[in-house]
Amino acid sequence: KRVEWTPESASKAGYPHYMLKEIYEQPQALSETLEGIIEDPRLERAAELVAGSKGLFIVGAGTSYHAGLAGQYYLSRLAGVVGHVVVASEHKVYTPGVGEDSVVVAVSQSGETFDTLEAVREWRRRGARIVGVTNVVGSALDRESDVTLYLRAGPEIGVAATKTFLAQTILLQTLAVAAARMTGRLSGGEARGLLAVLEGASETVRKAILASEGVAREEAGRLKAANSMYIIGRGIGARLAMEAALKVKEVSYIHAEAYPAGESKHGPIALVEPEFKVYVLASSDSPEIVGNALEMKARGGSVTVVSPSDLDLDIPEGIEVLRMPPTGGEILLDAYSLTPYFQLLAYHLAVARGYDPDKPRNLAKTVTVE
Ligand code: G6P
Repeated sequence: KRVEWTPESASKAGYPHYMLKEIYEQPQALSETLEGIIEDPRLERAAELVAGSKGLFIVGAGTSYHAGLAGQYYLSRLAGVVGHVVVASEHKVYTPGVGEDSVVVAVSQSGETFDTLEAVREWRRRGARIVGVTNVVGSALDRESDVTLYLRAGPEIGVAATKTFLAQTILLQTLAVAAARMTGRLSGGEARGLLAVLEGASETVRKAILASEGVAREEAGRLKAANSMYIIGRGIGARLAMEAALKVKEVSYIHAEAYPAGESKHGPIALVEPEFKVYVLASSDSPEIVGNALEMKARGGSVTVVSPSDLDLDIPEGIEVLRMPPTGGEILLDAYSLTPYFQLLAYHLAVARGYDPDKPRNLAKTVTVE
């Protein structure tokens, strides 16, 4: 099935900005991505390549790099295949390790990002097989990949990627499940069980948008004069935090830094003083993050924990908690429960500060130069 881009799907359809429209399109985009990839015979071929590789490299830029980090997490956890996640512009560092047994998963919404294509071209010359993950049929990445997996998320006009991040995530999760069948880490029944869990992603993201819209707008009103914030997490939460911080920076121009929470004591906590904003993503794999929230609170930080509502956390008074949709403890669902709040926070911060979130200064939707 080809991706159909109609004039209607490329208009704002009553939303004030494309970014908001695309955030709200996520439930549908996720259903279409998941349905499309499960039915796609190329998934099997891609999973075979990934499961059989002697070296796996996952490359992308910006949001696609962050989706690659999530992909690495699930490929490791589910299939036991640990990939190197490579920032596209730094690919040369990894080139000496790339050869005929290597497999590259190249992630690019547009399929046209210069650095990502450079990595693909150079590594292909060295004999690596390329699995492309893109939203654009017929893009350069599509043409230059051995196997292409399509996002089918529909057009994304807003410069800041939103729906394509979660579409890339669900696609890479599905790839991880398929690869885990091939490495024998999952039985057929277990794999089917996880695909059934993924069918809940669309509903989880829908509920997360509903739960976030009001609180994100109010928080943006309070935070609009902030200079800086931290967004921290552990495990999958650390990866989602990186994408959350990128959204805030891209459209609101407030400095937001993400790092794995365990690094706090190795430097970043030195900046925390009264009123300094710290968001703590509590993902289903890392309930121990409460300790990191307490450290930040002890320095006077304004700490907000964002967590699935059914995660059992013992959070003391004085720390705000935003309860997002439940995940049933399924690590596959954290991204859908925890991401929309930060997309909406970034959006409302931009609007509250008087900026156009669809046209952030200095940024382009697709970077086709070095
Ligand atoms: C630009 C865009 C980002 C995007 C990145 C990678 O920086 O502003 O939103 O994540 O490029 O784009 P790609 O099309 O390769 O995913």
